[in-house]
Amino acid sequence: MVSEHAAQVLVASNRGPVSYTLREDGSLDARRGGGGLVSGLSAIGRDGDGASSLWVCAALGDGDREAVRRGAGEPGVRMLDIDAGVHADAYNGIANSVLWFVHHMLYQTPLEPAFDAEFRRQWAAYETYNRAFADALAAEAAPGAVVMVQDYHLCLVPGMLRELRPDLRIGHFSHTPWARRRLLPLLPDDIGAAAAARTAGRGPGGVPDPALGGHLRGVRGDVLGAGALEGTAVGVHGLGADADFLRARSQRQDVEEWLVRLRERVGAGRRTVVRVDRTELSKNIVRGLLAYRRLLTDRPEWRGQVVHIAFAYPSRQDLAVYRDYMASVRRLAEEINAEYGTDDWQPVLLELDDDFARSLAAYRMADVALVNPVRDGMNLVAKEVPVVSDEGCALVLSREAGAYEELGEDAIAVNPYDVMATADALHEALVMDPQERAERTKRLAAAATALPPTAWFLDQLAALASE
Ligand code: G6P
Repeated sequence: MVSEHAAQVLVASNRGPVSYTLREDGSLDARRGGGGLVSGLSAIGRDGDGASSLWVCAALGDGDREAVRRGAGEPGVRMLDIDAGVHADAYNGIANSVLWFVHHMLYQTPLEPAFDAEFRRQWAAYETYNRAFADALAAEAAPGAVVMVQDYHLCLVPGMLRELRPDLRIGHFSHTPWARRRLLPLLPDDIGAAAAARTAGRGPGGVPDPALGGHLRGVRGDVLGAGALEGTAVGVHGLGADADFLRARSQRQDVEEWLVRLRERVGAGRRTVVRVDRTELSKNIVRGLLAYRRLLTDRPEWRGQVVHIAFAYPSRQDLAVYRDYMASVRRLAEEINAEYGTDDWQPVLLELDDDFARSLAAYRMADVALVNPVRDGMNLVAKEVPVVSDEGCALVLSREAGAYEELGEDAIAVNPYDVMATADALHEALVMDPQERAERTKRLAAAATALPPTAWFLDQLAALASE
């Protein structure tokens, strides 16, 4: 029952649940996205209890801006038409080039970061963009409503909103890992303190789930240690895979067709090592390829016997560092194919365009799933593969992925920086006994679906209500 918690729930995130493109004839095409928040929020009002929801998000492109101007938005969604230059500075300049780097430890510190006048200018844009959200939420929220602010794009919103509306219950959910203690102080003092100030609820409490291990539990100390506001409570809510949706979707015709095509490209009797990622700097795709190359170099028995299916979808292509990273991925895959490929065997099948049905087909046929991020908040791919897998799949999983806390026991753990150890882990995964692999996959799937999106969302509401 949602109404036990609040009559109105607001979600605030940079990217919203719908995006618009302008067709040539001038009409607008609306596309709804998926993901945990969309399914989670669908629970609100479902019981006929009169609870309502509103999603506040930013207009991201020309289509979105046009939709706002025409007042064409969908019910339950309010898009903010923030000045495009301000948004670009806040999103590309601060959120993706600074906060993402701090939380994922991506800086090469001998040279970067260098917080100069340009940074200060972009930070002012980040404040303006956060202020637009806080103002819109303060205007829309009913008395006592719950507001769930999402991610590093909107770090300043809880504090700003608390000042405008002390009556609201405010949560901030980080989908990324939280910067370790020594990292947040990289930021200039005034900014580090502001970025850490979260106002989750009132009073202490917020005890994380004791079932979770040290990695996630450590978050509490890191957040509070970083100078969060008095009265901040920290909880851990590990989003699980949406089993019902994934199982149904992965049996559809388009996925079956992809299965046939992929099997043909892999070749009869060969094993597969599968990875599916957005090409984010944190995903460690390059070291994954280096490990695969090491496997072929050190263990020639695998040549001609295994194919690495690597789907690396474009992400944040406005940033040169992301474009360069994608180019490195492509280059290395080509090198491996040139070095080891034969007339009837291509060692790496790399695809750089996004196709959900093709990803599900790869999940279904994977003998090994490689998930080796240098750091990751959760990593849903690690959770989705075991749920969808046809015949069981060995999971090679980075110790630095949030999902490791829940899946570590039945995965093969790797240090994401250790290419040699990752190559050994791939070998171990490839030779795992099929019976053991199937049993582990069953346990992985159970752990991966322990907190499906609706429960994940309602749990957060309950935690906020109990503060
Ligand atoms: C990743 C992160 C999320 C984040 C999202 C933003 O998936 O795990 O924490 O919200 O990126 O992606 P975007 O494409 O909007 O920059």
